[in-house]
Amino acid sequence: MQRPTPTDVEHEVTSVDMIVSKGDAEGNITYTNPIFMKITGYTQGELLDQPHSILRHPDMPKVIFKYLWQNIKEGKEVYAYVKNLCKDGGYYWVLAQVRVAKNPDGSFRNYVSTRRMITPAAKEAISALYANLLKVEQDEGVEASEKALLAYLSENGQTLETFNSFMQSLNK
Ligand SMILES: Cc1cc2nc3c(=O)[nH]c(=O)nc-3n(C[C@H](O)[C@H](O)[C@H](O)COP(=O)(O)O)c2cc1C
Repeated sequence: MQRPTPTDVEHEVTSVDMIVSKGDAEGNITYTNPIFMKITGYTQGELLDQPHSILRHPDMPKVIFKYLWQNIKEGKEVYAYVKNLCKDGGYYWVLAQVRVAKNPDGSFRNYVSTRRMITPAAKEAISALYANLLKVEQDEGVEASEKALLAYLSENGQTLETFNSFMQSLNK
């Protein structure tokens, strides 16, 4: 499938929307709920078995996905702001909670992402952070942007241990 050309048209996510998808161990999509299709503009047939990176927006810094995967692979949940690309090139912002779901015997079942609306204040703060991380990444690479992310957390009195609660607290 050809990648959409990004536009500056924002797709609205409302306070009642809960955008859910599930993925296999590699992150390939195994389930999407109806609102996921409505906002992204894809049909379920176009999404199933595709990697979640079908939604990847070029404004997203790599370091956020690196951090996401490191944590979910270890069974830890992650709250992260994500700007996603729609089929028509538009975008939407969400605060995603990504976690592992296990079978009753404790084995891996799938990864589940539940995404909610973000507030204007969070959008402003995170857009600025991600623009800086992206620039650092382009100029100096991902290791430098990991340091820039740690510096941002530290400036706000936070660490990676408080990443999730800090991200949630920004969504006010
Ligand atoms: C359950 C789950 C949901 C995900 N949701 C998104 C998403 O909404 N948008 C996105 O860009 N990446 C999402 N990812 C991360 C992608 O797997 C991928 O790491 C990311 O798009 C970066 O792609 P790249 O490494 O090919 O550049 C999700 C991963 C999982 C496991």
